[in-house]
Amino acid sequence: MRQMPTVASLDDLRYDQPMRIAIIADAHGNFAALEAVLESAVSHSVDAIIAAGDMVNPFPGSKLIWDKLRESSIEYLRGNQEEFLAFYEEATDDDPLRASPRFMPIQYAASLFTSDELREMGTPPLTRSVGEPDAGGLLVCHASPFDPWRSIASEVDHSLEAQFRRVRQSTIVAAHLHKPWRGEWQGKRLALCGSLGIPMEGDTDACYMIAEELSNGWRLTDVRVGYDRRLTIETLCEAEFATKAGPIGWLLLADYLHGERHLMAFFSHAPHVTSLSTYDEYAVSVRSYLVSAGILETMQKTFQFSF
Ligand SMILES: [Fe+2]
Repeated sequence: MRQMPTVASLDDLRYDQPMRIAIIADAHGNFAALEAVLESAVSHSVDAIIAAGDMVNPFPGSKLIWDKLRESSIEYLRGNQEEFLAFYEEATDDDPLRASPRFMPIQYAASLFTSDELREMGTPPLTRSVGEPDAGGLLVCHASPFDPWRSIASEVDHSLEAQFRRVRQSTIVAAHLHKPWRGEWQGKRLALCGSLGIPMEGDTDACYMIAEELSNGWRLTDVRVGYDRRLTIETLCEAEFATKAGPIGWLLLADYLHGERHLMAFFSHAPHVTSLSTYDEYAVSVRSYLVSAGILETMQKTFQFSF
């Protein structure tokens, strides 16, 4: 394991100098990808790094990522997955989060942490401002500035508009959809960085963003980093992720392997999923999805598991 990079803390940067910031997000416990991305960010001479949420849950490197980032100078923002783990800790034993096979991936991820750590996951801030807020500043968040579940790239309704109106900065950078995106709302620039751990654009390289302050605003560049994906696959196999995270975990493995949205496709194209309740019902349904998607054999070979 390499050392965490020694970049400055954002609080120590001088705002009278142009800044170059790396925005990394959606690692979802993929430690090998995180290491490659941090190395890349340092080689691009960034001044500071912001981790914009969903750095943990569900892959086995979640605990290592949490520990390493929390002891580093990297600014950690809360995503919906950190909130999920904090909710898990508060849930009663009969809550679906703890009891349903549907949530086995989060049950597995939660098992990697202590109760104190799970509670602490609800505490990182939702946003980080960079530069002068009223003079071309940048606001970084996970999905949207005041809601880590709702993407800034979704249709702008009253609640999203209310969020945008509260933001003084002229540029908002978020993550969450695992795919780079650029948009605009009433003169405000909106952007999404890609995912470093589970990219969803058919390109399986890790993805993050470099934001550089120029005299006329921020230059936002998506950076893709190839890394040894066999390391992540080995870690998943050694941790017995397919067994411990159950059938919904299999869909996450499919997402990772192919860089495609199989989890989402399963839930949106199979109306009967609301009637699933037992482990066996989920297993049969997910297995038949993997067959119909034509990926069962590749999955079995890659993860050495009989789905
Ligand atoms: Fe997210």
